[in-house]
Amino acid sequence: MSNYTIDPAVNAALAAFKLPEKLGFGIVLAPVMYSVEWADGHWGKGALVPYGPIEIAPGARALHYGELVFEGMKAYRAGTPWPNLFRPLDNCHRLARSAERMAMPVVPDELFMEAIDAVAGAMAPFVPTGGGKSLYLRPFLFGTEPGYMLRNSQTFRFIVIANPVESYASGPMRVAIERRDVRAAVGGIGVAKAAANYAASLRASSSAIARGYAVALWLDATEHRYIQELSGMNVFAVIGGELHTPELDGAILPGITRDSIITLARHRGYKVVERPIVLDELLAQMASGECTEVFACGTAAIVAPIGALGDADGRDHVPRQVDVVAAELREALLAMQERRAPDPFGWTRDVAAPPVDAPWAPRAG
Ligand code: COI
Repeated sequence: MSNYTIDPAVNAALAAFKLPEKLGFGIVLAPVMYSVEWADGHWGKGALVPYGPIEIAPGARALHYGELVFEGMKAYRAGTPWPNLFRPLDNCHRLARSAERMAMPVVPDELFMEAIDAVAGAMAPFVPTGGGKSLYLRPFLFGTEPGYMLRNSQTFRFIVIANPVESYASGPMRVAIERRDVRAAVGGIGVAKAAANYAASLRASSSAIARGYAVALWLDATEHRYIQELSGMNVFAVIGGELHTPELDGAILPGITRDSIITLARHRGYKVVERPIVLDELLAQMASGECTEVFACGTAAIVAPIGALGDADGRDHVPRQVDVVAAELREALLAMQERRAPDPFGWTRDVAAPPVDAPWAPRAG
């Protein structure tokens, strides 16, 4: 029996769902979601329900003070009938660290995994396969108590929604160096996957897109000299055959894909250096050819090549090569995630079998 309730309408919602040919990223919505509430110091009983609008008090702190943290993670099913998750407990623990930074309640491991397994298990037949396609899972936790007093909410809700997706980035990205706005400062909430960080980044992202770029590159808040990350992705440079990436400076989001790429690249014989990277030095190394390639990575983006770094003066800095080391690492990572290659790091984990009372649980005979 499940520990969570299954709304009777869930089965009909799943039966009516068709996986479209064109998925995009975040456009196709899974017809189910998991929801659980926190009050009086503890979590209630979770429920798997049809995807749909939720009621929220207009005065809720999540709406006024941005009291919301979230995660992004994926289930893959290429070559296997049943889906598997990639490093799900790392997402769970990062959500816990984000919640702690924001003084919100932690979602315990068992509850987090119950929610993920419930949604991914119900969606198992609809997890798209191959070519980096997957079921993207979006767990989020937010303060629901209304009130203007500047303190944490006393009630919270944790929801997991999902989307069958293709890769977030298609082809080499043109990246706009952001020299005006700041995403996050050391001591702030940059290390947390908090909605507010993304809010701070939206003006630069919209401006970058309007100018023909895909995404903004953030610099440090103090000197505007060191590269931090792209909006929603960590960044790597190939310099003298080594991989260099900004060190986790207390403002950068510690990407799980970033960590996977570091481990995987070292395993494949690359030297990987985490250090402060001065933007102007990197641009000079791109011009001299010492830096041959730049790329980004993230759960949504997987490993995405960068075709150009565009500066505020209108100049584009173009690397000598595009998607060579990035393609090698993307393929190695995806092969592991899609279980086409061995997983020496123990990163993949089967989605748990559905509870026996779930209408979609396998029946004997
Ligand atoms: C993710 O990679 O999961 C993110 O949250 C980034 C977002 C831009 C889709």
